[in-house]
Amino acid sequence: MKALVLAGGSGTRLRPLTYVMPKQLVPVAGEPLLFHTMRNLHQIGVRDVAVVVGDWHAEIADALGDGRRFGLRITYLRQDRPRGLAHCVLLARPFLGADDFVMCLGDNFLPDGIGDLAADFAQRRPAAQIAVRAVDDPRAFGVAETDGSGVVRRLVEKPAEPAGNLAVLGVYFFTEAIHEAVERIRPGARGELEITDAVQLLVTAGATVRASEYAGYWADVGRIEDVLRCNRHALDQVKPELLGEVDDASETVGAVALAPGARLVRSRVEGPAIIGPGAAIVDSKVGPNVVIGSECTIQATRLGDCVVLDGGRMTGLISDPQPLPPEGERRDD
Ligand code: DAU
Repeated sequence: MKALVLAGGSGTRLRPLTYVMPKQLVPVAGEPLLFHTMRNLHQIGVRDVAVVVGDWHAEIADALGDGRRFGLRITYLRQDRPRGLAHCVLLARPFLGADDFVMCLGDNFLPDGIGDLAADFAQRRPAAQIAVRAVDDPRAFGVAETDGSGVVRRLVEKPAEPAGNLAVLGVYFFTEAIHEAVERIRPGARGELEITDAVQLLVTAGATVRASEYAGYWADVGRIEDVLRCNRHALDQVKPELLGEVDDASETVGAVALAPGARLVRSRVEGPAIIGPGAAIVDSKVGPNVVIGSECTIQATRLGDCVVLDGGRMTGLISDPQPLPPEGERRDD
């Protein structure tokens, strides 16, 4: 099985973060989102991955390299502008050949892996398999209607009046049947070739399309609040580990992971927190729910519930955590 990872698009909803990096490289638990995706792919036995990239191609290729560090071989495919998820499949046809493949949206965070979805696909091998999850308000997603036994009857992209509550997640398993379908569809309401329409075409043609319910943690990282929420979730798994220096006037409380070369000077860090390599925390109070990137300097500062990007510098800042807005409220790009 091969994999297609979609990391193009514009990411306007994540501004101002996406002025400096693509949304697929936003750090979650101290690592770019795409690293988690690559690990999920390696875990299910994938070795060959094509990554669709847009304007941020250089930054993404820089971060992932040739894939060796994940045990993968990565090929990059350049998309001139966001023309839709199905356009990415068209673009990848020469790479994919006649192989089965898993398509992962690079802005989805699934820290519990995709092993169950892969096993489900391997066991039943329908023409296509989508992953779904019941949500309160599915209007911002593709919405699937099933017959109750997991067979998809209808798929609609971001319906104003959803017929059910099953949202489509960003992990799709396909056989080569999808290629003919993507060649036949036309751009939808937002001017893009929608993968939802291609899958619907398979359903209409009588092919078996199944919906596999995903039980793990899932987030579509579309807004700053999603980044914080994903970090909070990932931080729950952090194990206390003090590999850096803690001076006598500093203390750590709870699950604090202090990377090698990080220093705490006259500071207090309350976990869960990750302090990256080479970071210096001086005369500050940090945490809980904080990820400090590598080589950051935090001085005379109070920080909670936040992510500080690599190389960030803060002096004399007091930032108290704000409550996050309810999950699932999204605006379109
Ligand atoms: O997250 C799940 C949702 O993802 C599904 O419920 C929807 O059915 C599906 O269409 C998709 O909707 P989004 O509006 O969230 O897709 P978005 O435009 O954010 O793109 C998803 C990823 O694919 C993101 O990493 C950017 C990348 N992409 C997107 C387009 C349109 C590309 O690489 N090329 C593109 O042309």
